[in-house]
Amino acid sequence: MATAAKTKTKPGTASKAGEYATGAVIGAAAAGIAVGLAANVARKLAVQAPTMLAGDWDEALAAEHVATLKIFDALEATTEKNTTKRGFLLMQLKHALAKHDLQEGNIVYPAMRDAGDAEAADQLTKDHGYVKQYLYDLSEMPNNSPGFPEKIRAFRADIEKHMREEEDVLFPRLKAKLSPEKNKELTGQMNKEGLKIA
Ligand SMILES: [Fe+2]
Ligand SMILES: [Fe+2]
Repeated sequence: MATAAKTKTKPGTASKAGEYATGAVIGAAAAGIAVGLAANVARKLAVQAPTMLAGDWDEALAAEHVATLKIFDALEATTEKNTTKRGFLLMQLKHALAKHDLQEGNIVYPAMRDAGDAEAADQLTKDHGYVKQYLYDLSEMPNNSPGFPEKIRAFRADIEKHMREEEDVLFPRLKAKLSPEKNKELTGQMNKEGLKIA
């Protein structure tokens, strides 16, 4: 019994080694997470870059309108045989519009209301609801169905009208009401919002 006691590992040694091992695993995991996070931040910045580089908030949103219409162009150039391509483009469109919705709906439309343009902001918010309706309806139908191109065309017509109103009337009106400092602040807030979903 005494011998057994002598050869016994010092109390705590095994658990210390275990602690170190666990610590190393946690350290490696943390490093992995840090690398992953850095990669994620880099990826997010890359996604938001075209918007951030486009200039002021209104110019950035106009650039996103152009990019969105290009996705519509590509969708309209497909046939019922291009089911994979249609699926991919639809996914792209959903992401682009979700990001755009966050930037406008969480930042620009509230700024419009604060600047006394609540009715217009409410109408635009309603329009965004119908954008989501189109996206839902499209995801509910097989993308090789005969109704798909027609749905895309109607969607595009409605969204272009909404974009024109924003770019030609409502956004210039808001920009003119705000000071250069406030416009700059709005640009920063809008990009921060976009990064959440980029
Ligand atoms: Fe909008
Ligand atoms: Fe917009």
